[in-house]
Amino acid sequence: MRDAAIGKILVQRDDLAHRVRELGERISADYDGKELFLVGVLKGAVFFLSDLMRHVEVPCQVDFMAVASYGSSTDSSGVVRILKDLDAPIEGRDVLIVEDIVDSGLTLSYLLRTLRARDPASLEVCALLTKPERRKVELPIRYVGFEIPNRFAIGYGLDHAERYRNLPYVAALSEGV
Ligand code: IMP
Ligand code: MG
Repeated sequence: MRDAAIGKILVQRDDLAHRVRELGERISADYDGKELFLVGVLKGAVFFLSDLMRHVEVPCQVDFMAVASYGSSTDSSGVVRILKDLDAPIEGRDVLIVEDIVDSGLTLSYLLRTLRARDPASLEVCALLTKPERRKVELPIRYVGFEIPNRFAIGYGLDHAERYRNLPYVAALSEGV
C-alpha cells in the first residue's frame, strides 16, 4: 500500500510472524494442563489474537471486549467505558487479556481492575507492542511481543482514525499527518 502517512517500518512482517509463534509456544507451555480463556480487546487486537491462537496448543476459548477511552485521538485519559462486555462469566477461569499495544497503560489498568473483580483463577496480559517511555502506570505484563519507541504506530491491527489496520507490518505514522 502506497500512502504518505506510512512512515518507517517498526516491525517487519516476518519478525511479527516469528515472535507471535514464540509467544504462542510459551503460552502453551505455561498453561499446560489448563484451559485458557482469551480476551481480545477490540478492534486492534483481533489480528494479533487470531494469529496467536493458532500457535496455542492448550484448549482455549475466545471472547472480546470493546472499550472506549476518553481523550484525544492519540492520548487516552484513563477514563474508560465498556462498549461491549464479555458474553460469559470468567469466575474460576484462566484468563489472558490480549492487547495490541500498551501505551500509557491506563486502558489496561482499568481492564485489569474490572476483570480481577470477577474472580478469575488467574489473570495475565499478552501485548503485542509496548511503548515503555509513555507508561503512566506500572502494570504486570506477562507476555510482550516488542518494545517500540515513542512513535504512533499503525498496521497489523493498529489504526489511525480507523485506517491502516490491514497493513501486514507495523509502521510509524509519518510526522505531519
Ligand atoms: P493506553 O490506555 O494509553 O495504554 O492506550 C490504549 C489504547 O490506545 C491501545 O489499546 C490502542 O488501541 C491505542 N493506542 C495507543 N498507542 C497507539 C499507537 O501507537 N497506535 C495505535 N493505537 C494506539
Ligand atoms: Mg487497543
